[in-house]
Amino acid sequence: QEPLGLGHAVLCARDVVGDEPFVVMLGDDIIDASVPGAKQLADCYARHGLGTVALMEVPPEETSMYGIAAGEEIEPRTIRIERIVEKPKRDPPSNLAVIGRYVLPPRIFQVLDEVRPGVGGEIQLTDALAVLAREEGLLGYRFEGDRYDAGDRLGYLRANLAFALKRSDLAGPLRELMKEMSR
Ligand code: G1P
Repeated sequence: QEPLGLGHAVLCARDVVGDEPFVVMLGDDIIDASVPGAKQLADCYARHGLGTVALMEVPPEETSMYGIAAGEEIEPRTIRIERIVEKPKRDPPSNLAVIGRYVLPPRIFQVLDEVRPGVGGEIQLTDALAVLAREEGLLGYRFEGDRYDAGDRLGYLRANLAFALKRSDLAGPLRELMKEMSR
């Protein structure tokens, strides 16, 4: 009943998931895409038979906010991950950030069981992913689509506005409202 980190949260789902690949979706990462982010990753998993995490390029000053992965490109948008580090304070291995979508093999549960607390004293999913990458391989997929960070206050507002502006019933009235409120 304690929040001990993302890795721990995933481990809590072990009995529900059982012995098959599964999707992890972090609720504060919103992806707007014609093919859903998780489906893009599941297709990659199906093609290669390896766990796949969502990647996105971020500016260098933001690499310390994310899991950062690096590796060799094996296909358009797809890298075989050689290094993955949680929130590197310095010398990030790349500017490819892990975004909250993962398709993972059940083997990750055994790894998580053994992983020790990492950054922030939390059981980090990223640390287990590093073990998985070494042991059986792990892919990163630069997904297509727009991503919103709803874990950030302004990002949350931006996501709501972006989705509302795409709706014909809301776009007009919302623009009016924003004009009125910013006067
Ligand atoms: C978590 C993960 C991190 C990942 C991020 C994506 O961090 O630990 O590896 O890059 O989600 O949003 P959090 O944002 O929960 O601190």
